[in-house]
Formats: sequence, structure tokens, C-alpha cells
Amino acid sequence: VDMSDYTTIKVSTDGRVGTITLNRPEALNALNLTLMGEVVAAMEAFDADTGIGAIVLTGSAKAFAAGADIKEMSAKSHADVVNEDMISHWDRLIGVRTPKVAAVSGYALGGGCELAMMCDLVVAAESAKFGQPETNLGIIPGLGGTQRLTRAVGKAVAMDLVLTDRMLSAEEAASYGLVSRVVPTDDLLTAAADVAAKIAAKSLPVVYAAKESVDRAFETTLREGLMFERRAFHACFAFEDRAEGMAAFVEKRKPEFKNR
Ligand code: HXC
Repeated sequence: VDMSDYTTIKVSTDGRVGTITLNRPEALNALNLTLMGEVVAAMEAFDADTGIGAIVLTGSAKAFAAGADIKEMSAKSHADVVNEDMISHWDRLIGVRTPKVAAVSGYALGGGCELAMMCDLVVAAESAKFGQPETNLGIIPGLGGTQRLTRAVGKAVAMDLVLTDRMLSAEEAASYGLVSRVVPTDDLLTAAADVAAKIAAKSLPVVYAAKESVDRAFETTLREGLMFERRAFHACFAFEDRAEGMAAFVEKRKPEFKNR
């Protein structure tokens, strides 16, 4: 897809930071098939570009995303969702190695909350509201809401959100470990861009090693995870940027990373 052909998202870059803005205001950024395809394509395009070191994913002031598109979903039969393996296309985001920062203002509900959780960090505006209200519709969360949410906040809060339609405020979400930072609503995009720029200024292969090691904590046993981390740590000594980073500290100057 050509960037200018996107109809449900906007894409921009600033230095080494790429930004994807969900743009279906008439439906509070509900995640329909077109939007899913465009977000995945834009993420993969940024990921393939070594000039991009971090990605910001955001929505509007009122809604990050109000979930899967209920109108589109309502017509589907069981065979439809099985045959098209509904939702699975989003799994391609797991393969995106560039760190993804979700910048959430307003509603992040259902698939919207799950999409934020697929990002590596969440920066929340004070206005953010997180929930998994799927059971109201006769379905359950399908993009990780029972898994990533539970790993992030624990069983007590995850059960509450999944079984009722309780929404967490930004402050609550931060206190439970769902989001990394809470900022005044007007500052959201600046704050998220600052976080992304900070990541993007570092050595890309080192960032990959760090991110993959943290992710490992959710995939494996402590012993295996520690082994993964140790190997990744040792491997950093093969990077030119490791030598540069340490030399810069010793020489009291800023490092100039070459991403190699
Ligand atoms: C389709 C949606 C939508 C959605 C809102 N709209 N959410 N359309 N799918 N998920 C549309 C409304 O129909 C309406 O269109 C317009 O957006 C504005 O929404 P309102 O409801 O009028 O706004 P408001 O009264 O402010 O209420 C906001 C809201 C409410 C509380 C967020 O819209 C809401 O409850 N939305 C559904 C939330 C939800 O159940 N999400 C989970 C979806 S299931 P019109 O044309 O009437 O103006 C899911 C499964 C995950 O996510 C699967 C993985 C992808």
C-alpha cells in the first residue's frame, strides 16, 4: 500500500520516530478490516526502515480505539470467523521489532485496549479509559485481553475488567502496571514523541536485544529467561555501538551510534 492511499490512518515521521494515527473519527477508531490491514502495513513499513528507531501509535483525543468494529462483526457467522481466522492478522505486529509506544487518550476498549497492550510501552493521557467490555456483546476478548491484561495487572483486576464492563482510569491503569506513564491530556503527543525519540536515539540492535529479553519474561521460565538475557548481554559486546557507548562515557561525550 502506498502511504498516501491509507484511508483509516495517518502516517508521519519526525527524525527517527514514525507515527501512526488511527483516523476513523466517525466510529471512535473502531478496528475494521481496512484499518487492521493499514496499521499492520504501516508498522511493517516502518520496521523495514532502519531510519526509524521507534513508532508511536495513537488515536484521537476522544478515543484511542473503541474496539473491534461491532457493525462489521455483527454479520459474521461462526464459519466466517473460523475460515478467515478473524483477528489473527494482528499477530503480525508481534513480528515488528521496532519499539512501539502507544499514546492513549480517551477510550481504549476491547480490541483498542488489546492493541495498546501489543505495544511495548503505553503512555496515557489523564483522560484515558481502559476496558474489556466484550462480554456485553456476547463475545470475549480475542486479541490478548485475557492473556496480556492478566500478565500486566494480575488476575484480580483482569477478571474484574473482563467479567464486568469496568473501565480503569489512567491513574488506576498506571498503579496496576498497565501503563508506563500518565501525562496531562494536552501533553500526550509531545510526551509520547519524547519517549519514542529517546528510544530511537539509542543503538537499534541493542534496543532489539533489550526488548526481546524483557519480552522473554512473558514467554518462558525464570531460568530460561535469565539464560536468554545472559546470552544477549554477552552478544552486545560484538556490536560496534557497544564500544562507542563505553568510549563516549569514558571520554565524557555523547555517543554517536552507527546502529551496528
Ligand atoms: C463500531 C462504534 C464502536 C465500535 C463506537 N462506535 N464504538 N462503531 N464499533 N466498537 C460508533 C457508534 O456507533 C457511533 O456511531 C459513534 O461511534 C460514536 O459512538 P457513541 O456510542 O455515540 O459515543 P459515546 O456515547 O460517547 O460512547 C462512547 C463508547 C461507546 C462508550 C466508547 O461508543 C461504546 O460503548 N462503544 C463500544 C465499545 C465496545 O463494546 N468495544 C468492544 C468491541 S468488541 P453513530 O453512527 O451511531 O454515530 C472487541 C473485540 C476484540 O473489541 C477483537 C479484537 C480486534
